[in-house]
Amino acid sequence: MSFDRSIKIAPSILSADFADFGREIAAVEAEGADWVHVDVMDGHFVPNLTFGPPAVKAFRPHVKTVMDVHLMIAPVDPYIEAYAEAGADIITAHLEAGPHPHRTLQAIRAAGAKAGLALNPGTPVEAAGPLLEVCDMVLVMTVNPGFGGQKFIASQLDQIARLRAMIGDRPIHIQVDGGIDPSTAPLVAQAGADSLVAGSAVFRGGSVDKPGVYGENIRTIRNAAEAALAAA
Ligand code: DX5
Ligand code: ZN
Repeated sequence: MSFDRSIKIAPSILSADFADFGREIAAVEAEGADWVHVDVMDGHFVPNLTFGPPAVKAFRPHVKTVMDVHLMIAPVDPYIEAYAEAGADIITAHLEAGPHPHRTLQAIRAAGAKAGLALNPGTPVEAAGPLLEVCDMVLVMTVNPGFGGQKFIASQLDQIARLRAMIGDRPIHIQVDGGIDPSTAPLVAQAGADSLVAGSAVFRGGSVDKPGVYGENIRTIRNAAEAALAAA
């Protein structure tokens, strides 16, 4: 199968109802989500705490698409196997999480998952250059990680475009995460991102009893991104 460069919407369940993850995941998938994004935070690398491996394992049977696990933890290496065993399809670790990101990415692949490399806004994308050979995806953060609902950092658009040029035609996804909504989706798509994480902009206004709102939100983000690509 050829590499899928089309726009993929990945709702972040950080914005879901924390008492109802199974139904929330089923609802966003039924309403058009391509991937499900799981934000793992450790209260150390980022100032917030979320999901350990048992929680991620409990999400697994509900995810029929792709379980995309974003690790905002340091150290990260000791936990890779546990998140792979929990069923992550993609495991993304931060470049800033330790001194040996190349080893981390190799360990993710060895554990049987696709390897993602995340970059904080303060990290130049050029730092990813020597690591691209062990990457299936690069995540360019468009907020400082830690919380949903933050404002998009527009200066990251130039970084995305530079990364796009660095990657060329290699089969590596560019993901963006933070402040993605119908107004910023066209900008990141045009700059070269193909995987768009969105938390508040997907879950806003909806619920498991009103899942149609999720569908409308997902379609509006996707259409805005695709229209920008068609116009380019
Ligand atoms: C931020 C997380 C994001 C967050 C996105 O640390 O990595 O995935 O949930 O939330 P929104 O889309 O609300 O900015
Ligand atoms: Zn994330």
